[in-house]
Amino acid sequence: MGGNFVIAGGSKGIGLELVNQLMPIADRIDVISRSHGQLVDHEKVVRHTMDFTAPNLDFSEIPDVVHGVVYCPGTINLRSFRALKPADFVADFEVNLVGAVKFLQGCLPALKKGATEQTSSVVMFSTVAASQGLSMHASVAAAKGAVEGLTRSLAAEWAPKIRVNCIAPALTDTPLASRFFSSPENCEAMAAKYPLGRTGLPTDLASTARFLLTSESSWMTGQVLAVDGGMSTVRK
Ligand SMILES: NC(=O)c1ccc[n+]([C@@H]2O[C@H](COP(=O)([O-])OP(=O)(O)OC[C@H]3O[C@@H](n4cnc5c(N)ncnc54)[C@H](OP(=O)(O)O)[C@@H]3O)[C@@H](O)[C@H]2O)c1
Repeated sequence: MGGNFVIAGGSKGIGLELVNQLMPIADRIDVISRSHGQLVDHEKVVRHTMDFTAPNLDFSEIPDVVHGVVYCPGTINLRSFRALKPADFVADFEVNLVGAVKFLQGCLPALKKGATEQTSSVVMFSTVAASQGLSMHASVAAAKGAVEGLTRSLAAEWAPKIRVNCIAPALTDTPLASRFFSSPENCEAMAAKYPLGRTGLPTDLASTARFLLTSESSWMTGQVLAVDGGMSTVRK
């Protein structure tokens, strides 16, 4: 298939697994994160160090032509509404929404150039907590709700050249969620909450992102895909 991809947050977790899944099919993968994380050197991978919460980000080093981009940075800041300060909401918005806006504005010229023979593709990440009322999730649910709104808006604004979709995971075993997997008892208790009997693995989400990046999903835009072990729709 080929093509150039930019993965924001490809150094750990779901983004890292996506980079690994793209290696056999991509021409070049640019990875942007604050640290190298667990990303290993590879001839197709170009690393960039950047913090999406910083002002005035420079995207001049990404390729002139890009066929797909994914924004992975996110937060799990679980506290009661009473314990949350307005600054916590601002911090969650900075990483989940405003960082994504900076990233997409930086990549837009290259994404437009990538949409010649077929559409280019944008993939965002939400959470099951944006569509389900989960206590202690007010701050992240509000920020991810904004990400879902941005997804649908940009899907309309950028059609028919650029497709924009979003994935809404439930609990997935990554560095971000490591505290929920701290003991076998915790893992078992979490798994029992899911209709499919287990929590998510990075590959569950990365394979969905990969699908949304490729022409296999060429008639999909403006969608929020629940990849959540059945949590958002199934009752046992
Ligand atoms: N894991 C879950 O249970 C779960 C559940 C629901 C939704 N999600 C969503 O799924 C997405 C991926 O989550 P994940 O679990 O794979 O996260 P993760 O393990 O924390 O990985 C996030 C990636 O983003 C980078 N990153 C984080 N903050 C950044 C910043 N300010 N600037 C630049 N890079 C930054 C990290 O690298 P550096 O630290 O090196 O910068 C890392 O590469 C997130 O949007 C998350 O909200 C995850």
